[in-house]
Amino acid sequence: MKPLYSHLPGPIGVFDSGYGGLTILEQIRQVLPAYDYLYLGDNARTPYGSRSFEIVYDFTLQAVRKLFGMGCHLVVLACNTASAKALRSIQMNDLPALDAGRRVLGVIRPTVECIGSMTKTRHVGVLATAGTVLSNSYPLEVHKLFPDIAVVEQACPMWVPLVENGEANSPGADYFVQKYVSALLSKDANIDTIILGCTHYPLLLPKIRQHVPENIRIVSQGEYVARSLKDYLCRHPEMDARCTKGGTCRFFTTESEDKFMDSAAIFLNEKVHVGHISLE
Ligand code: DGL
Repeated sequence: MKPLYSHLPGPIGVFDSGYGGLTILEQIRQVLPAYDYLYLGDNARTPYGSRSFEIVYDFTLQAVRKLFGMGCHLVVLACNTASAKALRSIQMNDLPALDAGRRVLGVIRPTVECIGSMTKTRHVGVLATAGTVLSNSYPLEVHKLFPDIAVVEQACPMWVPLVENGEANSPGADYFVQKYVSALLSKDANIDTIILGCTHYPLLLPKIRQHVPENIRIVSQGEYVARSLKDYLCRHPEMDARCTKGGTCRFFTTESEDKFMDSAAIFLNEKVHVGHISLE
């Protein structure tokens, strides 16, 4: 049976497996401060990066349905793993059945669109979760737009756990940052642009920068995703009209509220109120 969602305008939903999407939300709120937002972190089941296609798709669909049920007409998957493994299926197979008027957007396409003008050598590196690398989404998307750009990737399975456990700035993190950065660079000496293809990685940026030669540009996705969303809302006034504009932001987690509150304060530099939510 088709679910019955409210037709009233609602907040923009932002979803991630955990805290990483906060790096995207922050940029979106800077570019589009007037809108209302609802952030959902599936912290209880993070990380997604090492999970199978089926599981990431199931979890992401549950989150999308929940956000629709909470009044969102537009949901941003602020997670590369979910964008890589679930977005296409949700857009093609589930949206028509759920509510053809609602939209789900991802983070990979907006990131890829910006790199054509950035790389001079036409050699780009991508640091991402094992799931995103395995999906081949970045090379596929890059080659659709820029067939002349060579893409090499490196999975960084330890980085999300470091961030989720509040260890991004610890001395122990250096070992794993250096390990994956040098593995990427050893695959292609001509890389001049590195995409951080996981929304958690900007939290490791100061350490990543230390291990990447100065002449190589490091691209965090937030500002490009935010700009692309602004552009989307300009091009789709019918969706814009379905998004409320009260400048608020509410946070929900599948884990403990207290834990989220403490960690989110580090990510956002502000204390936030958090609600608990179950997904199934
Ligand atoms: N932050 C997510 C991403 O951008 C997923 C991290 C994870 O859960 O493994 O890929």
